[in-house]
Amino acid sequence: MQIKEIQENKKEYLKLLLIGDEQESMIDTYIDGTMYVLFDDDARAVCIVKQKYPTVLEIKNLAVYPEYQNRGYGSFMLNHIFKIYKDKMNTILVGTGENENTLSFYIKNGFVYSHRVENYFVENYDHPIIENGRQLKDLIYLKLSFGQF
Ligand SMILES: CC(C)(COP(=O)(O)OP(=O)(O)OC[C@H]1O[C@@H](n2cnc3c(N)ncnc32)[C@H](O)[C@@H]1OP(=O)(O)O)[C@@H](O)C(=O)NCCC(=O)NCCS
Repeated sequence: MQIKEIQENKKEYLKLLLIGDEQESMIDTYIDGTMYVLFDDDARAVCIVKQKYPTVLEIKNLAVYPEYQNRGYGSFMLNHIFKIYKDKMNTILVGTGENENTLSFYIKNGFVYSHRVENYFVENYDHPIIENGRQLKDLIYLKLSFGQF
């Protein structure tokens, strides 16, 4: 298993990116960020991060192919990000929909609730985003501060 930083032809991994964020025009707003792909034979997980403030990094997309979810790839990718950025950043932020599985994934990996942006998915996406049979409305921000360990 290895994680590579991808600098060219990022759209080669669009199928994976669309699992984390189903609207391509939204992906286009952050695809210039730093992108990592986890390979275990083939590509299995993707992550794009961007500097939000001088010492705050934001995870813009993190996704694992459905058939490979719940096998530790997402956590492995997060730990890779932590290792790279722990000496450069104070805080990692991630914004996600109100989905129990995703929220518990981040909480298990050390994130805590930060704040919410009301109606983000309703106002920024051109169609309703449905996850686990429920329409996503607010964007929930979680944070992890490196100083806390
Ligand atoms: C969220 C996501 C990145 C997690 O990656 P992963 O490789 O599946 O997660 P891991 O195997 O490292 O961690 C598993 C934990 O995550 C949660 N989890 C992830 N997928 C789950 C699922 N399908 N069902 C239940 N829990 C799930 C659970 O808390 C689980 O812990 P447990 O085994 O103790 O129950 C992945 O499920 C995914 O791509 N989801 C769809 C895209 C998305 O919502 N991305 C986040 C947007 S920023």
